Amino acid sequence: MNSSFVIIIFGATGDLAKNKLTPALFSLYRQNQLGQEFYIVGFARRDFTNEAFRELMRKSIHSNNTYYQSEWKKFSQNLYYQRGLFDEQQGYQQLIQKLHTFDAKVGACITRVFYLATPPDNYETILNYLSSTKLSEGCSQGSAKWTRLAIEKPFGKDLETARNLDKKLAEIFEEKQIFRVDHYLGKETVQNMIAFRFANGIFEPVWNKEHIDHVQIIWGEKKGISGRGKFFDGVGLLRDVAQNHLMQLVAAVAMEQPRSFEKEAIRDERFNAIEAIRCIKPEEVGKLVVRAQYKGYLEEKDVDPNFVTETFVALKLCVDTPRFEGVPFYLRAGKNVDKNEVKISIVFKQTCHILFKEYGCPEEGNVLTIHIQPDEGIGMRVVAKVPGSTLSLKTVDMKFTYASEFGTKGSDAYEKILQDILHGDQMLFNRSDELESSWEFINQILLGWHKSSQKPLIYEPGTWGPKEALDLIERDGKKWL
Ligand code: BG6
Repeated sequence: MNSSFVIIIFGATGDLAKNKLTPALFSLYRQNQLGQEFYIVGFARRDFTNEAFRELMRKSIHSNNTYYQSEWKKFSQNLYYQRGLFDEQQGYQQLIQKLHTFDAKVGACITRVFYLATPPDNYETILNYLSSTKLSEGCSQGSAKWTRLAIEKPFGKDLETARNLDKKLAEIFEEKQIFRVDHYLGKETVQNMIAFRFANGIFEPVWNKEHIDHVQIIWGEKKGISGRGKFFDGVGLLRDVAQNHLMQLVAAVAMEQPRSFEKEAIRDERFNAIEAIRCIKPEEVGKLVVRAQYKGYLEEKDVDPNFVTETFVALKLCVDTPRFEGVPFYLRAGKNVDKNEVKISIVFKQTCHILFKEYGCPEEGNVLTIHIQPDEGIGMRVVAKVPGSTLSLKTVDMKFTYASEFGTKGSDAYEKILQDILHGDQMLFNRSDELESSWEFINQILLGWHKSSQKPLIYEPGTWGPKEALDLIERDGKKWL
C-alpha cells in the first residue's frame, strides 16, 4: 500500500476479528504490505481502552503462533478502540472525530474501509448509521468517495433478505465500493483452479460430459460449532458454507474459460456457472438433499432447541451447461465429522481398455483431486501395472503439494482478501448477481425443508453423516471418495 488507510472493524471483539482479520493484518504488516501510515479501529460494544483492545488482539495472535514481540509492539500502536452500540448514534459520532484526527495527522483524506464482521442481524442497522452520519461518504463528505465497505457472509438469510440487503447497499455505496467477502475465493488452491484448468492444455479436451463421470466436493471439519452457537444456531450449514463456499467450488469446476484475466471477465464466468446450478425443486428435496445434525448439538452453548439447525448436508445437483449436462455433482459437508478436509474430485469415466478386460480393471479409473486444504495440492489417480510376472492392474496416486514444491501453502485467504480490499481489486469478491443466483438455488432447498415436517437426521459425532448420505450416492452406483 502506498497510500494511508484506516480500516474500521465492526464487531471487533468477535471471533472473525480476533482469529482471522487481526492475524492477517499483522502478517501483512510483517511483510511490509500495509504502508507507512495506517490505522485499525475496532468498533464494538464492550467497554475497552485502546490498551485492553490491543491486549485482547495480542492474545489471539499469540494463540495462532504468529506472535513476534517487537513487531507486535510496533504494529499494535496502530490499533485503536471505539466503544459503541450498533444502534446508537453516539459511537458513530465519536468514530467520526477519531477518523478526523487520523486525516489531520496524515494531512489528507485517507481511504476508509468499513469492515462488517458482526452477526448479519446488525448489518442493516450499521449501514443505516453509516449513511445517516455520512461516514459512508468519507472525510470530504459529499464529494470524493474514498470509502469501501467489506461485508461478510452470510449475506442474507434467503433470497428475499439477500435482495433487500443488496438494495440497501446500493442506496449507500456504488458497486465499486462494495466487497462481498467469501474467503474461499482468496484461498490459493481455489485461485489456482483457473490456472490449472486453462494453463494445462491437456485438461480442457476432457473437461466435459464425454469424459467426466461425476464430480464430488467434500467439505469437513472435525470440530463442532465450537461455542459459536449465537452465530450458527438457526443459520445452519447450508447457509453457512453451502450457499457461498461450496457454490464457489462448484463454479471453479464448472465455469467456462474467461475471455481474459480481468475482474469482470472472471466474475461473468463465475456468475454463469452458478446460474446454471439447478435441478433441485422443493418437491425433490427429500430425495436429493440429506439434512442432518450431530448428536449432542442441542447441548451446545447458545443453542435453542426450538430452532431446526443442520450441521451436515449432502446433496446431488446438476450444472445445466452444454459442458456438464447430465454430469452429477455430489456435495457432502459437515461439522463434527471424521476429518478436516476440503477437496474436489473429478471422477473420469472408467474405460476398461479391451486389452485388459480379461485381467480385470480397477473399479475406479482416473480421478483428479484438488486438495483445497489441508495438504494443499493436486493428485491424479492413474491405473498402473502391479510389478510381477502376471498382469494385474491397480490405481496409484501421483501428487503435487504446495508445501513440497513451493515450500509454502500460499498466503492465508484473509491476507489476500484484505490486500485486495486495500488495493480496490474486486475480482475475488462476489458480484451481486452471483450471490443472487446462488440464493435462488439454495432457496429451493430451504423451501423444500420448510414444506416438509421432517426434522434433520441425527449422526454420530466423528462420522461422515447419516447412512442416507451414503445412499444418496450409492444408489447411483458411485461411492464417496
Ligand atoms: C466460515 C464458516 O465461513 O468458514 C465457518 O462460517 C467455517 O463455519 C469456516 O468453519 C471455514 O473456513 P476455513 O478457511 O477454515 O475452511
